[in-house]
Amino acid sequence: MSRFAGKKAVISGGTHGMGFAVAKALVEGGAEVLITGRDGKNLEAARQELGERAHFVSCDVANLADVRAVGDAVREKLGEVDFVHVNAGYAKLEPLAVVTEESYDRTFAVNTKGAYFTTQVLAPLVKDGGSIVFTTSIANASGTAGMSVYSGAKAAVRSFAQAFAAELIGRNIRVNAVSPGFIDTPSMGVDASAEERQHFSELGDQLTPMKRHGSAEEVAAAVLFLAFDATFTTGQELVADGGLTALTG
Ligand SMILES: NC(=O)c1ccc[n+]([C@@H]2O[C@H](COP(=O)([O-])OP(=O)(O)OC[C@H]3O[C@@H](n4cnc5c(N)ncnc54)[C@H](OP(=O)(O)O)[C@@H]3O)[C@@H](O)[C@H]2O)c1
Repeated sequence: MSRFAGKKAVISGGTHGMGFAVAKALVEGGAEVLITGRDGKNLEAARQELGERAHFVSCDVANLADVRAVGDAVREKLGEVDFVHVNAGYAKLEPLAVVTEESYDRTFAVNTKGAYFTTQVLAPLVKDGGSIVFTTSIANASGTAGMSVYSGAKAAVRSFAQAFAAELIGRNIRVNAVSPGFIDTPSMGVDASAEERQHFSELGDQLTPMKRHGSAEEVAAAVLFLAFDATFTTGQELVADGGLTALTG
């Protein structure tokens, strides 16, 4: 398959879950990618699976020095790129009463500050006519108990996508977001115990009108649609949630 032959892309948080599904689809379609993540074992596992057309950089997106080092690596390995997927993020399930300053700051540092500065560093390396896609969350559009900090952090990212779309339109760079519902990934998007994650997962199946989780590959298809096919779409958020936000409430 050569849908992405000659294309170059960067995926933040690309070693497993949805970011990895995007990286895999791109590499299988002929693209060259650079992916980031924190854990060396995850980076190595991704390296084994993706092969020669993938480059890897260890990075905590909350750390600006790491993010700048990713920019240097992209410049060195890929030069200009066609697409950046700003994906790294996580949710901590914590009700208002137990949120600490530390967990609040970490959630915003990874999801929000990380997304902002990843874009600041990488946007200059996106070709004119290229695109950027953020991963947000349906939590940013509804009230979900135990997810207040994450919801706010991802609402900010949706706003960034709109503002960056306005800033980059002069270079014909489109900026959009994909907003997933309950998606089957190693973390389910949450920093939680196995038991809590299982409960969260079962809740997702009950609440979702399609009565199942989405797969990482289904979200990747939405990301790649916005990245390469939706050439008259910018500043938008595409929901991939099995009908959860549109058909309930
Ligand atoms: N799964 C869901 O149901 C769901 C729903 C809505 C939104 N989301 C959002 O979708 C995105 C992807 O989630 P996922 O479920 O695919 O998660 P995942 O399987 O946990 O994958 C997350 C990726 O990001 C990396 N990562 C995590 N924290 C990072 C950090 N501080 N700096 C750099 N890389 C980091 C992870 O690698 P390491 O662990 O090695 O760092 C991994 O490559 C996230 O933004 C999440 O908030 C998920």
